[in-house]
Amino acid sequence: MPEIRAVSRRLLLGGALATTGALAAGAGASSVAAAAPSAVPAPPRRPGQTSMIDVPYTAHRTVRVGVIGLGNRGSGMTTGWSVVPGCVVTAVCDIRADRARRTADGLAAAGKPRPAEYGGSADSYARMLDRDDIDLVYIATPWEFHYEQGKAALLAGKHVIVELPIATELDELWDLVDTSERTRRHLMLSENCSYGRNELAMLKMAHEGLFGDITNGHGGYQHDLRALLFSDTYYTDAWRRLWHTRSTASFYAMHGLAPIAAAMDINRGDRMTTLTATATEPKGLADYRARFVPANHPSWKETYVNGDLVTCLIETAKGRIIRAEHDVSSPRPYSRINTLAGSRGIFEDYAGVVSAGGGRIYVEPDHSGHSWRDFGSYRKEFDHWLWKKIGDDAANNGGHGGMDYVLQWRTVQLMRAGLVPDIDVYDSAAWCAPVPLSVMSLAARGRPVEIPDFTRGAWVNLRTGLDSRTTEMPPVA
Ligand SMILES: NC(=O)c1ccc[n+]([C@@H]2O[C@H](COP(=O)([O-])OP(=O)(O)OC[C@H]3O[C@@H](n4cnc5c(N)ncnc54)[C@H](O)[C@@H]3O)[C@@H](O)[C@H]2O)c1
Repeated sequence: MPEIRAVSRRLLLGGALATTGALAAGAGASSVAAAAPSAVPAPPRRPGQTSMIDVPYTAHRTVRVGVIGLGNRGSGMTTGWSVVPGCVVTAVCDIRADRARRTADGLAAAGKPRPAEYGGSADSYARMLDRDDIDLVYIATPWEFHYEQGKAALLAGKHVIVELPIATELDELWDLVDTSERTRRHLMLSENCSYGRNELAMLKMAHEGLFGDITNGHGGYQHDLRALLFSDTYYTDAWRRLWHTRSTASFYAMHGLAPIAAAMDINRGDRMTTLTATATEPKGLADYRARFVPANHPSWKETYVNGDLVTCLIETAKGRIIRAEHDVSSPRPYSRINTLAGSRGIFEDYAGVVSAGGGRIYVEPDHSGHSWRDFGSYRKEFDHWLWKKIGDDAANNGGHGGMDYVLQWRTVQLMRAGLVPDIDVYDSAAWCAPVPLSVMSLAARGRPVEIPDFTRGAWVNLRTGLDSRTTEMPPVA
């Protein structure tokens, strides 16, 4: 892993990340560490409990997947799992048994093995977890079930991939980390945008030193969901709208935060230390309801408390700043922001023509004169090997521009080859921590709150993550 950096332009440019030792003990590292607020004490590990960092999967000939939650996301992703080479869906579960039946019928009609069906009650998933023909559990239920179901899957001896967020409370995040460490099973956030083509090119450029020393980045989830939130047929039982009646929080910024965190080597040489949140007034949902929702609709009994725009300013141990935004209740075009900047230049996604790949860039010495350049040629030059290898398959099979398929393909092949996951439980916990921490910061009138170090000190070590290389992946039949 360190040899990647040994040949990178970042090191040639004299970038800050030299060796693990320098990060752990070098003057620069220790001075920023000293400047950072004291860390929230990590709960002690139980005897025998050890880190899951760099722990490879046991090699699997075929990866057998069990799915919990077969709504919009789960049903589409189930099709995705079923077409990945070396993967088979062996069981499906939804509290609504008809959805399990519909999904099983669909797979059988597509010529795939018919999965076992579970459903009918809130705990049907627990019976599914008793099966011994499931290696990986994929969870796509409403947010309130993720922690309980993810933990149960780990305790049943399965690896787990959970939709965003893996949990919504700090103690739950710690418990998932600890349960992963105790069960020796991996749990990862199903963070598909981390496998986006632009995001991975941005990551490669960051590691090659094109932006110089990275100083700041911005990401988020800005998606006008108002019509879907008030739809009676989209989110089951309006679960997502109801979260907006419960708390003021950055519920779902991970799609933009995670790629920035990856480019900054969070948990791989740097870590997020403090978070400060702001929230605007909650106006968008009530305004939309007043204009478009009939007076007899159940939503008229609700009061929306989540700010339309919740912003988290996150500081890292190396003094970088990340701005992570969440806004799903305002009229606006979609954006995950994806902006990364440093001493030599800047990339801004969603600024160009999105159908042409989006993005604009300005990096020295390639550019001068203060005018933006198109990202296209950089995207081509720094295309990640995953997209070169399976980009066509992804375009044919996957949602969200193909990145769902890349995430699924990569996860399955890592398990088959017996390699270390790109995204581990520590990344997942760190990226989801802004959910509860934004609540805490807002409750403290916008004061900074400390972000736990879920790695318990191991963040100082450089290691590979999403920046993998094709040569690290043995061929899998
Ligand atoms: N990564 C992405 O790009 C992406 C995109 C969309 C949604 N999501 C996430 O996927 C998840 C599901 O979202 P959705 O849009 O599919 O919602 P949805 O309402 O369409 O589906 C949720 C499903 O979970 C089922 N369910 C509820 N409780 C259950 C239980 N106890 N056991 C089994 N099944 C249960 C419901 O019956 C429903 O079929 C959410 O966490 C959401 O944030 C992620």
